[in-house]
Amino acid sequence: MTIQLTEKERMFLEDAKINEEVCIQKYQNYSNQVKDPKLQQILSKLAGEEQEHYDTLDTLLKGEDPKINVPKPQKPNQNKQVTIENNIQGVMSNKKDEVICNDLLSTEKYVAGTYGDDVFESFNPIVREAMQHIQKDEQKHGEEIFNYMYSKNMCNVK
Ligand SMILES: [Fe+2]
Repeated sequence: MTIQLTEKERMFLEDAKINEEVCIQKYQNYSNQVKDPKLQQILSKLAGEEQEHYDTLDTLLKGEDPKINVPKPQKPNQNKQVTIENNIQGVMSNKKDEVICNDLLSTEKYVAGTYGDDVFESFNPIVREAMQHIQKDEQKHGEEIFNYMYSKNMCNVK
């Protein structure tokens, strides 16, 4: 089935694609910079999920149904290499990981907000459902980063 996009939908989908590209880059680069291997694993996984968002947006822009409710086969993780540089950085303080987490949390908050707008500006139900789905994913990413930070005493919740 071909989806006929409105001009507005095309515009916000193009914008969202740019944001997803930024997210992919951030998660990939940061996963190679953080000290804690556990955090590296989380960021690497989230990079893959952002790539899925990018693919969903791309499919919609081609006028095709991304079929977001059909589970996709797991992609191999291409971001697992640990370089010598990482190990050198390992002796640095946790503060750097905290700054990275805060940046990612802000990014997710911003991006989730833009998807909230897109939900209201969607005309096609398939587009709306995809925006809701991706927004929820971004909220889950935020939750995952927050939970990590909380477990490491990196945030003040009082
Ligand atoms: Fe995303």
